[in-house]
Amino acid sequence: MKVLNVVGGGKMPIVGLGTWQATNEDELTSALNHALEIGYRHIDTAYVYENEKVIGAVLKKWISSGKLKREDLFITTKLPVAGVHEDRVEMFMKMSLENLQLDYVDLYLIHFPVGTNYIEGHTITPQDKMVLEKSDHVAIWKKMEEQVDAGRTKAIGISNFNKQQVERILKCARTKPASLQVELHVLLQQKGLVEFCQKNGIVVVAYSPLGSPGFNVFMEKNGFPTKETPNILQLPVIKKIAEKHKKTTGQILLRFWIEQNVAVIPKSTNLERLKQNMDVLSFSLDSDDMKQLKAMDMGEKGRIFDMDFLKDVKSHPEYPFGK
Ligand code: A2P
Repeated sequence: MKVLNVVGGGKMPIVGLGTWQATNEDELTSALNHALEIGYRHIDTAYVYENEKVIGAVLKKWISSGKLKREDLFITTKLPVAGVHEDRVEMFMKMSLENLQLDYVDLYLIHFPVGTNYIEGHTITPQDKMVLEKSDHVAIWKKMEEQVDAGRTKAIGISNFNKQQVERILKCARTKPASLQVELHVLLQQKGLVEFCQKNGIVVVAYSPLGSPGFNVFMEKNGFPTKETPNILQLPVIKKIAEKHKKTTGQILLRFWIEQNVAVIPKSTNLERLKQNMDVLSFSLDSDDMKQLKAMDMGEKGRIFDMDFLKDVKSHPEYPFGK
């Protein structure tokens, strides 16, 4: 598996397993076991996904049975919005480690640049009690750096930050951000942000590289308004390129980012699709394919995750998108 070097010494396999919305314990356990069997070593989770404990239990079995060494894995988790406050970083970091039954993670990310209040016992602050809070990124980053010093994470990074916000972290950092995880797919390519990060040694990770086919399932399940999202997997340009290479449309969408040294973390609990998503390193896209795919970029209009399910989020000074 091709790896990307992450500041702090870690090697991130370029294909990882996303786990957002994988909350059914049996389904996730079986998917993870299968994923590990077929060679996945990079697993992406977050405190708010409410599945760290399930992941931790599976990893523990694999490690304690000697089938897998901890150092062969690359595990990412994230500080939730309720933790985007300098006084709560350490507490949430420790809770994630406890859930995962690990001594350290490989990468700890600030999940989103806007912070909310935290109510004990809640992973996500309930909407009717949610209050946006001032988010002092410089103070929070100092606390993130302390997590590296304490050995709780090998590397630290950010997610959903815009270029100005990344620049501010770079300026104040004693420990540089190792990675930026953002929404990236053919309709939202964020070329300037990706190039800026790569020039500064920040590994870029694409979330929703398939266009998040499960987005509205999440919205409905949580009582949020649904919205129309494009079915990227079925777009004619993608289908044509897939036919040409005798690959699935999903594989083309993933390979597009691998060609650009961007890691992908597609989520799947389906055994066949897990296999497909790993099998994207044995073929390449040619310059004509890349040209057609790059031309599909819609800029901000292509964004699916504007996060407006967080109450009043767009009024927060650190709201990152469309700026
Ligand atoms: P499933 O778990 O049933 O495979 P994203 O990472 O862009 O958010 O996409 C995740 C969604 O896409 C999940 O709903 C997942 O469903 C589905 N999915 C994952 N891999 C593929 C694939 N290769 N082709 C089609 N759909 C996929």
